[in-house]
Amino acid sequence: MSYLVNSMGHVQLNVVDVDALVKESCDILGLHVTREESGCVWLSSNGRMAELVLHEANENAMRSLGFEAVSEAAVAEAAARVEEAGCKLVSTDPSLDCCVTGMQFVTPQGHTFELHSPVQTEIYGSRKPTPGMAPLRLDHVNIMSPEPAETRTQMEKIMGMRLSERMVDDGLNWMRGANRLHHILGIVKGETGLHHYSWEVAEFSDYCHLGDRLDTIEKNFIWGPGRHRPGDNTFAYYIDTCGAMVECAGNMALINDDDRYEPNIITALKRPENVRVMNVWGEPAPLPWREHHFPWAAPAA
Ligand SMILES: [Fe+2]
Repeated sequence: MSYLVNSMGHVQLNVVDVDALVKESCDILGLHVTREESGCVWLSSNGRMAELVLHEANENAMRSLGFEAVSEAAVAEAAARVEEAGCKLVSTDPSLDCCVTGMQFVTPQGHTFELHSPVQTEIYGSRKPTPGMAPLRLDHVNIMSPEPAETRTQMEKIMGMRLSERMVDDGLNWMRGANRLHHILGIVKGETGLHHYSWEVAEFSDYCHLGDRLDTIEKNFIWGPGRHRPGDNTFAYYIDTCGAMVECAGNMALINDDDRYEPNIITALKRPENVRVMNVWGEPAPLPWREHHFPWAAPAA
């Protein structure tokens, strides 16, 4: 078994004002609510039962990050690898009942990750009426780690992820799963946390729709639209109501010739001279993007 992980599964956030983030996620981004219960709301952009799960809490923080496995057997295989990779297995059940199997583990750096079997999905009738932009699906997530090389190795050993590209100083790493997107996970060097969660757009004009919707609530993009060099995807970023950074991204490169692909190592690190190494069209990353950090909640006791 090579890849145990196929794609990004879901994002769970602890949120002080759940109602505000639900409203923005529905009216501006274009998600829809799939379940609402006391202190917890599930949202999705498509026919999947859950992509973004919000828990009412007394702090805004990343709670856990779920990856979708290639199969139920892959979940069991990954669980058996957790301890040897230096991490702690904390659950052998899925956190969401729309998954048949799942397991959660905590890393020494303080990330809570889950690998779960595919989320229950309706492939027809998945588009809902919304004034928002309406992305296609959760695409990838960039997390922050003080030890990115260790985090990368955990992902390789436990989930069978592969490295697609990295900066020579490990400032950024991009890793892929079985769906062959250039990255489903980015690892940014820094204090443990979330850098951004990203949704796939159907077409470039969606950025116009999203920017105009943000304008109606006195908000704007903090970077983009543009096109990244690593991954070759288009992008635009804004900060959501709980302080986490949201990216919308499109047309990410696929790595199809998987066994022959050699990870690209970026050696041109000096700003702003390396702008075309990092960004195809124009402006380099602004300071608020480079310095953004959203905390990761302490693992549940
Ligand atoms: Fe991204």
